[in-house]
Amino acid sequence: MNSVTLNNGAEMPILGFGVYQIPPEETQAAVEAALAAGYRHLDTAAAYGNEEELGAAVKASGIAREELFITTKLWVQHAPTGSVEDETRRAFESSLTRLGLDYVDLYLIHQPLGDYYSEWRAMQELNKEGRARSIGVSNFHSDRLVDLIDHNEIVPAVNQIETHPFHQRTGEQELMRGRGVQIESWGPFAEGRNNLFTDPLLSEIAEAHGKSVAQVVLRWLIQRDVVVIPKSVRPERMAENFDVFDFALTEEQMGRIATLDTDESLFFDHRDPEMVSRLGGHRVD
Ligand SMILES: NC(=O)c1ccc[n+]([C@@H]2O[C@H](COP(=O)([O-])OP(=O)(O)OC[C@H]3O[C@@H](n4cnc5c(N)ncnc54)[C@H](OP(=O)(O)O)[C@@H]3O)[C@@H](O)[C@H]2O)c1
Repeated sequence: MNSVTLNNGAEMPILGFGVYQIPPEETQAAVEAALAAGYRHLDTAAAYGNEEELGAAVKASGIAREELFITTKLWVQHAPTGSVEDETRRAFESSLTRLGLDYVDLYLIHQPLGDYYSEWRAMQELNKEGRARSIGVSNFHSDRLVDLIDHNEIVPAVNQIETHPFHQRTGEQELMRGRGVQIESWGPFAEGRNNLFTDPLLSEIAEAHGKSVAQVVLRWLIQRDVVVIPKSVRPERMAENFDVFDFALTEEQMGRIATLDTDESLFFDHRDPEMVSRLGGHRVD
């Protein structure tokens, strides 16, 4: 399995399977199919509401725990009069119980909202205890990431951010590389927005390789050393998305894909006050 080495020496498969927006009642079957297709890296979150079903699929597969790389995420914790560090530990225990695991390979702060410095302190302890083998963040803009690094002991191993052909994050990736943080893409297909799957430039490159647009996009990210976790509920697409290691894009093709960058989110801005309030006020558990 092709992997990247994180800043603590841990190996992370560069291609995984994401389960955002897979309804709980469909998650066990989807994850079982993904494992059968060869995926060994799974990405969920407390906020997705399907940790339990993902854990059931892992158990049913009989695959040895050490062969799997499992990520989950901490939702924004609320403890106006109490301790966010305690709440973080409680939330972590709940995730582990739902997953049916005694450790996760990667635990991420899902959003740069609320008292995430306290969350990070608790996660540093969980990391030292070996229960969160690696710890990282998600949706952190470079300023927030650098601030967290500069005022804490452990450097996040990963920052999982929206990254696809229309929002390429090359500058952020460069900064992260300099700080020892691995970039991980969420929404590698931009969830199909902007007509990604029929984009003329991507289609032309796909045709030249006898591959699909989805495969070209994943290959382009992997060649940039970006970890990818495409989501699909369809076994044939899971197999298609996994079959990206038998061809390579040329420098010229990489350069043409670079021209698609708009340097803007296709979803929302994590700095928009309305979103900050809406997401930050959302309760998960
Ligand atoms: N940290 C965060 O805040 C955050 C936010 C969003 C996502 N994520 C993570 O990133 C993962 C991936 O992102 P995402 O799920 O938002 O979107 P995505 O992977 O960019 O796109 C998923 C969409 O593409 C379709 N699709 C998948 N493979 C395809 C193929 N080969 N051909 C055509 N269509 C295909 C899927 O449909 P079907 O299912 O019908 O095949 C689904 O509609 C998530 O599952 C989650 O684990 C994290």
